[in-house]
Amino acid sequence: MIYRSEKKSSEKALFVINFKNYEEIADSHSIKLAQAASKVAKKHKTQIVVCPPQHLISEVAKVAIPVFSQHVDVAKVGSTTGFVVPELLKKSNVQGSLVNHSEHTISPKEIEEIVARLKSLGMTSIVCVRDVDEATKYARLEPDYIAIEPPELIGSGKAVSKERPEVITDSVKAVKRAENSTKLLCGAGIVSGDDVAKALDLGADGILVASGIVKSKNWEESIEEFALAFTKRRKI
Ligand code: G3P
Repeated sequence: MIYRSEKKSSEKALFVINFKNYEEIADSHSIKLAQAASKVAKKHKTQIVVCPPQHLISEVAKVAIPVFSQHVDVAKVGSTTGFVVPELLKKSNVQGSLVNHSEHTISPKEIEEIVARLKSLGMTSIVCVRDVDEATKYARLEPDYIAIEPPELIGSGKAVSKERPEVITDSVKAVKRAENSTKLLCGAGIVSGDDVAKALDLGADGILVASGIVKSKNWEESIEEFALAFTKRRKI
């Protein structure tokens, strides 16, 4: 599994594209977006991860790019109708998951259980948090990443890195205080390479984006613009 076991990869910044359930990525369009991301990732040697909707995940996982789930449930393997189970995702080549996205929150106990379970499976965990207090609290669980996303900026086109830079710098400090291997991503309203560059300058180890890519007119061009911001900062 690339993010935990290969030192070089784990040192690279991460560029995560959450497809959510936008109309633009329905059916085969998810494959097309994943292919565009895969092409840019290879061209610029960037570490791009895609999070397609659950019902398309194994199809997208056939494209040559790491795929993470948008959510996983605390449910056992076996008779758990309708739940999304990490062990089965792993068998479909899914390498990690978002946890507690602000559009799909779960309880603190579930967050703890899921982080531990993903870890035991060698899968990557990205725990989404809404503020610095939550960043402090969940960094102690040592997920691979904390992703700070002020909910009010999600989908707004106003980048967290420009509107609320202090949220990123304070979260960087909060994660460092945990004194473990957890890294910080940031997201919400990121729509340009400049927004990405600003996030990296503030100390983030990568970004989480949805509408800025999914709703752009030319996916490959937008992904490339973001990827170039990473390569310029020599973090990818
Ligand atoms: O998961 C990413 C996210 O919530 C940010 O969304 O549309 O503001 O990039 P967006």
